[in-house]
Amino acid sequence: LPAESVTRGGGPGRSSRAAVSVADLRGSGSPAAGGTVRRHVLTAKKATVRLPSGREIDAWTYNGEVPGPAITATQGDLIEVRLRNADIEDGVTLHWHGYDVPCGEDGAPGVTQLAVAPGDDFGYRFRADQVGTYWYHTHHASHVGVHKGLYGTLVVRPRGGQRADEQSAAEQVDLSLPLHTFDGTVVIAGSDGRTEHPASPGTPVRLRLINTDSDPHRIVLAGTPFRVAAVDGRDLNQPGEVSDVALHLPAGGRYDLVFIMPDTSVALVLDGDRDGGLRLRPPGDAPGEARIEDTSDLPELNLLRYGAPAAAPFDTRTADRHFTMVLDRGVAMVDGQPAYAQTVNGRGHPAIPDQLVAEGDIVRFTVVNRSLETHPWHLHGHPVLILSRDGTPPTGSPLWMDTFDVRPGEIWEVAFRATNPGIWMNHCHNLPHAHQGMMLRLRYD
Ligand code: C2O
Ligand code: CU
Repeated sequence: LPAESVTRGGGPGRSSRAAVSVADLRGSGSPAAGGTVRRHVLTAKKATVRLPSGREIDAWTYNGEVPGPAITATQGDLIEVRLRNADIEDGVTLHWHGYDVPCGEDGAPGVTQLAVAPGDDFGYRFRADQVGTYWYHTHHASHVGVHKGLYGTLVVRPRGGQRADEQSAAEQVDLSLPLHTFDGTVVIAGSDGRTEHPASPGTPVRLRLINTDSDPHRIVLAGTPFRVAAVDGRDLNQPGEVSDVALHLPAGGRYDLVFIMPDTSVALVLDGDRDGGLRLRPPGDAPGEARIEDTSDLPELNLLRYGAPAAAPFDTRTADRHFTMVLDRGVAMVDGQPAYAQTVNGRGHPAIPDQLVAEGDIVRFTVVNRSLETHPWHLHGHPVLILSRDGTPPTGSPLWMDTFDVRPGEIWEVAFRATNPGIWMNHCHNLPHAHQGMMLRLRYD
């Protein structure tokens, strides 16, 4: 890659005693044996986007599209993306949400790079070693930029086309479905209103749900039993078939739903709206025929009791570092002035002390929500293993998440091993909350 001294650098706020030079923590330069290089140029620009209903939205886009171009790869490929900024005055970056890239590729402005100004560009490069469903978005003034449309999908498929949890043939219907709300309308993969997709009976189907909003979505899949094969890109252990359940998808989170297409239509119902959402329809099943009952009474699937237990890759009874984060709202000092803030331990960004870890540490977080709002907690660069929710440990599959909803009054314990050196944002993924202070940094010392 050409020199990027203009847009690279530690940025403001870096402590002089930081042992890690983030600018040097760049991605691998070559694919794995047998892999290919996937090159993209994404140009951030304002555009008027016409949705299928005919409605027009004034969006901020990558390449004039909402969502931005889909980035797909096979495990072991090298992903190389050149980000250009045409006319977003605020500046933009690319953050690979949930993907454990080397820190220098993480797209955190002021930490791993400077925001890319109009006329500038920045190159990202990383090996697609992790399989699963992810997404990308700007991380600069993201409460505005993501909301206006600066996001897209990142999907990495396994080499050989099969996942460990699939015994049968390669999937034939595999849809990435980012959900995004513009002016009160949920847009699914760029379509508003009801989206239709053909699917022949007997076809294996994978629906990759991606919540790009700042609030959770309630999702019901009607017309077939299904399995939640993966959460936040990571496969669950022995997920069983379920039906007549609602799924609570946190802001930023992803669920992969898999099933075999039945001979009648299947409906994806979002937030109780039985007219919108997605329909998978076998040839010959007339439009409007999907039989959808009222979904409002369906119980929520508890992912902490779903699937089969398996050993954790580290001892979860001990921790080398333990951080408690009490989430609340109130008045805190922001830039030397008292201001309304979303706070962590009574302070708002940037006055929240960094969390210091060393490579190899087992790190535990206790996240306490003392407020009346839900906080989708998100750590960059590392998935976390859920240890307990309100004191109750999971009895199902190990659950690795990069964004977990801590609802009002709840206490969550999570852990991870510190294996990805750098400086990482650790924040609420309700992006207005992050903007109002609910954001800090985890730093390798
Ligand atoms: Cu999806 Cu720090 O963000
Ligand atoms: Cu929040």
